[in-house]
Amino acid sequence: MAKVVVENVYKSYSRPKGDRGNISDSAAISKTDRSSIKASSRQVSVLRDINFTVEDGEFLVLVGPSGCGKSTLLRLLAGLEELTGGNIKIGDRLVNDLPPKARDIAMVFQNYALYPHLNIYDNIAFGLRRNSETRGQGDQETGRKEQVQSRGIDDILTAVTRYLPRSMRYLSAKEKAVRDRVRYVASLLQIESLLYRLPKELSGGQKQRVALGRAIARNPQVFLMDEPLSNLDAKLRTQTRAQIVKLQRQLDTTTIYVTHDQIEAMTMGDRIAVMNNGQIQQIAPPLKIYEQPANRFVAEFIGSPPMNFLPVDLVPPLKLVHKYFELNLPEIWIEPLQSSQAKSVILGIRPQHLSIGSESKSSIQITVDLVEALGSETYISVHLAADPNTTLTVSLPPDQPIAIGDSLWLAVDVNKIHLFTVDDGQAIVLK
Ligand SMILES: Nc1ncnc2c1ncn2[C@@H]1O[C@H](COP(=O)(O)OP(=O)(O)OP(=O)(O)O)[C@@H](O)[C@H]1O
Ligand SMILES: [Mg+2]
Repeated sequence: MAKVVVENVYKSYSRPKGDRGNISDSAAISKTDRSSIKASSRQVSVLRDINFTVEDGEFLVLVGPSGCGKSTLLRLLAGLEELTGGNIKIGDRLVNDLPPKARDIAMVFQNYALYPHLNIYDNIAFGLRRNSETRGQGDQETGRKEQVQSRGIDDILTAVTRYLPRSMRYLSAKEKAVRDRVRYVASLLQIESLLYRLPKELSGGQKQRVALGRAIARNPQVFLMDEPLSNLDAKLRTQTRAQIVKLQRQLDTTTIYVTHDQIEAMTMGDRIAVMNNGQIQQIAPPLKIYEQPANRFVAEFIGSPPMNFLPVDLVPPLKLVHKYFELNLPEIWIEPLQSSQAKSVILGIRPQHLSIGSESKSSIQITVDLVEALGSETYISVHLAADPNTTLTVSLPPDQPIAIGDSLWLAVDVNKIHLFTVDDGQAIVLK
């Protein structure tokens, strides 16, 4: 297994004719190191200044909105795209110029990429057979001739009988090992009954599990998985999620896993990397990302429903003043607020940290616009009674009787609030 190091990675694509891109693309390129980046006005910058290390055996989850560059980053790691700048190391090797098959990685693609003419068994076995062929060549070089000769006969018998009915086929020792591995992986992913079908005869979710099986079977140094569960139904998704995590712990294979799913992001990885607009915003363990988001983007992206944001003025040492309510913060905020020197900040409150309260200066008077009862909890969308344009989302316990049009007071849990700077949205952090 191996550590993966990504250093100062940039990726630009040529802009297709007629595509004028947007101004921020060229602005971002102009700031970067021109000597290492072949950027020009015809290039569109997709990844910028990506730096991170995935430790040996670690499970890193990569999340970010559509188009932010997640798949591009995985394809660079796999060797399917050329770097515009920077370095990628797998284990101790610089792999910038190595072709995909020399990198010892297995990738599960967002669109499955199964071989359409091979049945599922052969799709899973494909990489295993190729692996053992490479190992066979190594044996020859070390001069173990006898073994190679018997292996040769084995291979010929296997090839000659391959098209006979299954019960009449000759299986070499190598092919028996492949069969055992394929069956093991198929049972793990519950696709045993599909082994002799072609990919076109499977549903999207089934194809996804086959693609996953093909990667697992090879036992590579690094797994790269691009939304491998997005087509599964909820039950299968939960099961397969647990299987991947269990398997990754067992095999201890360094894994980079792309997802849009909040639950997958929070539960599967040792750490989460949040990306936006071609850049990494924050890398940290899941609960740290949730509790101490580095900026407003991460705060809004991680957590469901998303965090609420309200602009407020700061009255030192600890008072936050909104047009329609005031909050007194706990004393731990004195030092961070003093050193930020901000006069106005953005107040962030998660929906879970608002509750129904009573009329007071520190409560927010609202009117209910929408009630979504999920059973386990109820989400309500509301607007400020004095300002219909300011909306909030609140997560409440399911037993509270709430109806559209209700007028209520909301209390804020001041021990759980977040503050961000107005200009660049960076978090004002508690020490
Ligand atoms: N071959 C290409 N040529 C030009 N632009 C490309 C190419 N491949 C990707 N892009 C652009 O790069 C950006 C990042 O794409 P990428 O596929 O990495 O996004 P993503 O984060 O994986 O999105 P999604 O979540 O939708 O899969 C997008 O704006 C996309 O249009
Ligand atoms: Mg993608």
